[in-house]
Amino acid sequence: MGSRLAVVSGGGTGIGAAIAGSLARDGYDVLVAGRRADVLAAAAERIGVDCGRPDAVTPVTADLTDPEQLDRVLAAVDGRAVDAVVNNAGGYLGGETDTLAGTAAHWRANLDANVLTAVLLTEALRPALRRPGGRVILVSSISAQRGGGGPYSAGKAALHGWAYDLAAQLGPEQITVNVVSPGYVAETEFFGDRMTPEGHATRVAATLVRRAGLPDDIAEAVRYLASPAAGYVTGQVLGVNGGSVLGR
Ligand SMILES: NC(=O)c1ccc[n+]([C@@H]2O[C@H](COP(=O)([O-])OP(=O)(O)OC[C@H]3O[C@@H](n4cnc5c(N)ncnc54)[C@H](OP(=O)(O)O)[C@@H]3O)[C@@H](O)[C@H]2O)c1
Repeated sequence: MGSRLAVVSGGGTGIGAAIAGSLARDGYDVLVAGRRADVLAAAAERIGVDCGRPDAVTPVTADLTDPEQLDRVLAAVDGRAVDAVVNNAGGYLGGETDTLAGTAAHWRANLDANVLTAVLLTEALRPALRRPGGRVILVSSISAQRGGGGPYSAGKAALHGWAYDLAAQLGPEQITVNVVSPGYVAETEFFGDRMTPEGHATRVAATLVRRAGLPDDIAEAVRYLASPAAGYVTGQVLGVNGGSVLGR
């Protein structure tokens, strides 16, 4: 058993799996939470082999929009102190319609997936956060800063405002709260079949470094913010976007 514990939502795929792998290599035990048991189990096994600790990653199958399913995460934490909560689960949910009822459903789905997942996981684990030294990290999106995703952008932007309140509440206990805001990141499930070669090229061209981001680019930022070295950084939004939106 490692001496530190991290919980990573959406840790079975894409950016979350890269974050889980990075933290596991640093010696953390990592709980990865998501809805698909098979995907989580495969990621846990792969990361365990990679980091040389087969039991480093524990899968927890839970829909984090459902308050009752948070008990599964708490059961897996099993009374340990939590060093880092990485709220990475989320995604863009389509479903635009012409009706108000459809609009309500579309917005609720996106707010549930991107806001409620983070709020419920963080609130469930708040009492268990290591004091002093705990870390809360929220993964938002460049679309929170420049739009482009309707209710998805709005949901990610909501994380920023909430992070500032949470940072103020937890700061006196030496717990930091920060947002990592990724730009375009390839090699995840995020775009599904929505991505085209033209869409990829447009997004790459919008960066200053002329490349797509990779999950490890985001994992490295999270790794820093989770580390003891980042203890004086709180209430911040760190853009990891290749320069496609400049600092704000
Ligand atoms: N890729 C990009 O260009 C990009 C850019 C900006 C921001 N982001 C953000 O980065 C984060 C990671 O995305 P990604 O690119 O790595 O895409 P991804 O591969 O689709 O990862 C999203 C993860 O969230 C999990 N998840 C979604 N809803 C959940 C729920 N209700 N309960 C529990 N887990 C849930 C998914 O697992 P299950 O389906 O098994 O539940 C999946 O593992 C997301 O918040 C996304 O919005 C991505």
